[in-house]
Amino acid sequence: ENKSTVSITVVGASGDLAKKKIFPALFALYYEDCLPEHFTVYGYARSKMTDAELRNMVSKTLTCRIDKRENCSEKMDQFLKRCFYHSGQYDSEENFAELDKKLKEHEGGRTANRLFYLSVPPNIFISAVRCASSSASSAIGWTRVIVEKPFGRDSETSAALTKGLKQYLEEDQIFRIDHYLGKELVENLSVLRFSNLIFEPLWSRQYIRNVQFLFSEDFGTEGRGGYFDNYGIIRDIMQNHLLQILALFAMETPVSLDAEDIRNEKVKVLRSMKPIELKDVVIGQYKSHTKGGVTYPGYTDDKTVPKDSLTPTFAAAALFINNARWDGVPFLMKAGKALHNKGAEIRVQFRHVPGNLYNRSNGPDLDRDTNELVIRVQPDEAIYLKINNKVPGLGMRLDRSHLNLHYAARYAKEIPDAYERLLLDAIEGERRLFIRSDELDAAWSLFTPVLKELEDKKIVPEYYPYGSRGPVGAHRLAYRYNVEWGDLS
Ligand code: BG6
Repeated sequence: ENKSTVSITVVGASGDLAKKKIFPALFALYYEDCLPEHFTVYGYARSKMTDAELRNMVSKTLTCRIDKRENCSEKMDQFLKRCFYHSGQYDSEENFAELDKKLKEHEGGRTANRLFYLSVPPNIFISAVRCASSSASSAIGWTRVIVEKPFGRDSETSAALTKGLKQYLEEDQIFRIDHYLGKELVENLSVLRFSNLIFEPLWSRQYIRNVQFLFSEDFGTEGRGGYFDNYGIIRDIMQNHLLQILALFAMETPVSLDAEDIRNEKVKVLRSMKPIELKDVVIGQYKSHTKGGVTYPGYTDDKTVPKDSLTPTFAAAALFINNARWDGVPFLMKAGKALHNKGAEIRVQFRHVPGNLYNRSNGPDLDRDTNELVIRVQPDEAIYLKINNKVPGLGMRLDRSHLNLHYAARYAKEIPDAYERLLLDAIEGERRLFIRSDELDAAWSLFTPVLKELEDKKIVPEYYPYGSRGPVGAHRLAYRYNVEWGDLS
């Protein structure tokens, strides 16, 4: 990879994602000396703004995440000096040509690689890509484009989007982000499996009862209702974030750690999944709730959401992988907004010990309280294994304890934000954590039929109060498969 110079253009620079995630991640990379010596960051959007105004806007969201003790204002100033702004329309080749001219001045004749981050709604992707590739792509170096979901809302719209992008870009120029893949504990999943002897031999239907993928937020869609109502929680979280984690969890050992080898295995898992049946899906929507004198708004209280919206803000689903390793093992997903807690976890419940000598009438139910491996993706990252042990003393009483890898206790260094890793990988051309188009197709093929069925039949979500544990239907679903949901720890 030629790292000589990179020009990064954030298209949609005044949006929320750009302010909250992209600019801060670029600063963190700069702070850690991960960016090439010569780099420029351009904000591109429709509104008029000067360079100074962009810098001022960006400076408000930069933090000294990496070393809180150090005052990093000097580094921030140096970084902000590398940030510029160009105002233009997203469908104007002329405006992109003006950007090209400015970029060339900064690049000063060096081999210039160009990265475009499309932080704009998907209906703008194709026109922006057309203009960027025709008027502002790199003459000698590479040109890459980062896009972020929603990649359509079903198989057809996703395929149309891919086709549109491929009119102007090769597949290897497209970097589809799923930011959950950039999370430290998701990356660690393969390390855990493939670099420890003790897990991989147990990683199958023979020893695993069920696997749970849990996502919970303790706030609603306030302010994002307009976007959210067209998608719902299944498209927002399950079809991408949770399914990606599932694929990494369940895949066979890849031939190597190369991006293509890993993605080949992930796509096999996705293509081996059984169609999702309507009976295996529970949907919910939060309603207003008053607690301690405070009234929390219901989903449809949002002015941008139609009063009769049936869009789910909660969903639980049982999925199955039809292959020799996982036949019959329920993979349960649960995702919701406006619940009582916040976090994301993977829970692996192991089978009971056959003929357990310690299963006594007066002790814990060891057929139920089996070993469980918990991977707490966030917050407060941790991996722990629940084991049964003897309470110390002369008697014989059993207890459950945790063998615990608690990141904050083990490592002093802060964990990088997902966007830092992903941006760095895009600059370095590392595609492992990005979604290949066949993976995207397979993910949509799995969810499109059941989404269509939910929508065609106008299935009414189970309502749950803001801040609650979500609809009871989720428990019924789990019980049907003899599973109890783990509680986020
Ligand atoms: C996004 C969803 O992809 O992920 C949001 O669109 C959600 O609805 C967010 O809030 C959660 O990401 P994180 O990293 O905060 O868990």
